[in-house]
Amino acid sequence: MDRLQIDGGARLDGTVRISGAKNSALPILAATLLADGPVTIANLPHLHDITTMIELLGCLGVEVVIDEKLAVEVHPETLRDVVAPYDLVKTMRASFLVLGPLLARHGRAEVSLPGGCAIGPRPVDLHLKGLAAMGADIEVEGGYVKARSAGRLQGANIFMDVVTVTGTEHLMMAAALADGVTVIENAAREPEVVDLAECLTAMGAVISGAGTDTITIEGVERLESASHRVMPDRVETATYLLAGAATRGRVRVVETQPDLLDAVLVKLRDAGAAIATGDDWVELDMEGRRARAVSLRTAPYPGFPTDVQAQFLALNAVADGISRVTETIFENRFMHVQEINRMGARVVLEGNSVAIIEGVDRLTAAPVMATDLRASFSLVIAALAAEGQTIIDRIYHMDRGYECIEEKLAGLGARVRRLP
Ligand code: UD1
Repeated sequence: MDRLQIDGGARLDGTVRISGAKNSALPILAATLLADGPVTIANLPHLHDITTMIELLGCLGVEVVIDEKLAVEVHPETLRDVVAPYDLVKTMRASFLVLGPLLARHGRAEVSLPGGCAIGPRPVDLHLKGLAAMGADIEVEGGYVKARSAGRLQGANIFMDVVTVTGTEHLMMAAALADGVTVIENAAREPEVVDLAECLTAMGAVISGAGTDTITIEGVERLESASHRVMPDRVETATYLLAGAATRGRVRVVETQPDLLDAVLVKLRDAGAAIATGDDWVELDMEGRRARAVSLRTAPYPGFPTDVQAQFLALNAVADGISRVTETIFENRFMHVQEINRMGARVVLEGNSVAIIEGVDRLTAAPVMATDLRASFSLVIAALAAEGQTIIDRIYHMDRGYECIEEKLAGLGARVRRLP
């Protein structure tokens, strides 16, 4: 199992290029199943989760041609199976998203119930309820969701009880090929939902309101060949800015979209960072200063993203003052706290949704273990800011969501090595 060795204490200084957004690429790959002809997707990040999704498409008989820049041409017309097996779905929750497209396009699908990140119970009840409201007949049997539709799915008015990102995406995809109009209320407003809507629209779907809490989809007869470029990863962008802030350094992040990061940039400014932005870049400069502690609360977009909570907590761990970080999206998303405390951080949990952080001047290196995708990078940030050499175990979590970690960090002047 790969480990990451980090010699801390170096101030990061340099430029890093941001990859395509994983959370946008995954639903978009699932959406290609709706089309009658080839769909080309560019700017896919080079990640394990993407490979898993491509493998799953392959398993359904869909031909996927990958070019050297990792643009893929997906051929949904070669599909010969509608069963998504446990082995692939268990490693990544987003693979569950093939259910709706298969059902809408082929009237039938069997998809294993997902596993995925260990960040508390993550149900898919709203996905299933929405598909049922569209007329699907759904049974759960032997760990598989077996869905059928007599004829086409039917447009429906769907109110989402909880704001769910992939839930919204799932129903938007299914509705694109339904008979009639679907209205999704209390929809997620995340930029990745908008990116998916743009891809579906390029395929011929008729969608309005993506990016607001009410999305209207007029079902169409068929979806066609299209090409789409995946948006930049806003979580990766925030993560590298936070690494810069925690090391009191200067980081310029390019090929990104700063306007999607307002909630994080506000907090970084509060922490004392000088931030400059352009159309597709952000630069953070701490000018050698220690950050000030900043309290925050995660919320659905445009609020502070839960996927950046762990990384900001790592900054607070070395900041001046006491802060409070409240997690409102997931029930068990503080597993990094125990590990970061092994490095001398002073973080106390109140229940499982609030962390109180007393910033320390310096963390010290220690062997630590990655527990989930975003939490893993909080340990990298802590290690970069710490004195001495930290070894982070189980970084396969991180490889699911961060492209070329060592190369990108090395480009910023970090002393990082992957150990087999
Ligand atoms: C997506 C992101 C993930 C991010 C999360 C929140 C992808 C591939 N993943 O995950 O990185 O952390 O959004 O921004 O885009 N819920 C239900 N019933 C459901 C579905 C969800 O109760 O049927 C609850 C969840 O338990 C959670 C909340 O809704 O408390 C939000 O989760 P959701 O937005 O669905 O997360 P994901 O879409 O899985």
